[in-house]
Amino acid sequence: MENKFPKGFLWGISTSSYQIEGGNSNSDWWQWEEKGKTQDKSGQACDYWNRWKKDHNLLSELGVNSFRLSLEWSRIELEEGKFSEENIQKYREILQDLKNRNIKTAVTFWHWTSPIWFQEKYGLHRKKSVEIFARYGQKIIDELGDLIDISVILNEPMMPLTSGYLKGKFPPGIRCPIRYKKAFNNLVEAYKIIYAYSKKKFPQTPVGITTLYNFFEPANKFNPIHKLIVWICKKFWNEAFFGKIKAQCDYYGLDYYFHHKLGLTGRKNENKKVSNVGWEIYPQGIYEVLKEIKAKYNLPIYVMENGLADANDKYRAEFIREHIKYMQKAIGEGADIRGYFHWSLMDNFEWLHGFKPRFGLVEINYKTLERRPRKSFYTYKEIISSNKI
Ligand code: BGC
Repeated sequence: MENKFPKGFLWGISTSSYQIEGGNSNSDWWQWEEKGKTQDKSGQACDYWNRWKKDHNLLSELGVNSFRLSLEWSRIELEEGKFSEENIQKYREILQDLKNRNIKTAVTFWHWTSPIWFQEKYGLHRKKSVEIFARYGQKIIDELGDLIDISVILNEPMMPLTSGYLKGKFPPGIRCPIRYKKAFNNLVEAYKIIYAYSKKKFPQTPVGITTLYNFFEPANKFNPIHKLIVWICKKFWNEAFFGKIKAQCDYYGLDYYFHHKLGLTGRKNENKKVSNVGWEIYPQGIYEVLKEIKAKYNLPIYVMENGLADANDKYRAEFIREHIKYMQKAIGEGADIRGYFHWSLMDNFEWLHGFKPRFGLVEINYKTLERRPRKSFYTYKEIISSNKI
């Protein structure tokens, strides 16, 4: 079997602004941390906001030809309708630097965080949020669109929607199915406006979202109840949001982390190997979900996130190799997979769990902010440079 990847395959790495930039005190998550809702406060995080040039050197060293990063809405729109030219200019510099290095940019417009003013005055559940959110998206396209190779308008919308509106764990901390449904619909509508606008201004730029698509399987595949549970989970979690916008997506952005083997009383995973946060390491699942996605949507696919918390770098190299092998198997069976973005470049602020889970190819010393590539960094580097596994 030819084990090279298609020419032009994107080898990348994924990050998000709030988790690495630091100092995002205008953001609703900052306020959330102040209220004591998270393990740690993000503070200066990795200080990417000031150290990005050096971090881009790490990208060059790794040899990636693409980088996924996100923009912080609360830095761009300081107050309602008042945009920061200075910060937009800074994002231009960041993106331009990637271009100069021949690194393609996959830019997430919204990786869960909103400005405090937005959350306080509107929130996604209010109708007016559609207009406000869409205006932010359009502003990005006007100001930065020429430097964006792939637009990721939303990151995993089901996470902030369910955690923020059903479980009360993310801002705005609500538990209300009615407001959940409103927020869901508003986000769908805002997405569609931004999509149309982007297509008008930059018809060539692929536009879409990422979905946290889990591999659900029945604990017993002959048990109709188990199968029903799996069917419901797929409908509610994997397919609900994407299903509403699939006609307005140029690609499928897959974030793969989870395998759930489901029975009547919950998860029945074997958990032979687990990461530091207890998530099962199950590489075969990426193959299964890629097959499902191909069959269901028949779109070009980018694996936009895949990674693990592994402070001692015990499993990461094998994790990367195994997932890429299974991805290659899906390509061999006709899935149109255009890129793989590992999560993440460096250890970062892992939302509710703070700094403890370490997802980085590069280790961060949070006292000195020193960066140190882990061994698996070189494993990934080798795969990229040879374009094969
Ligand atoms: C999110 C990231 C997060 C990662 C690991 C993904 O669902 O997009 O922000 O750090 O999972 O938990």
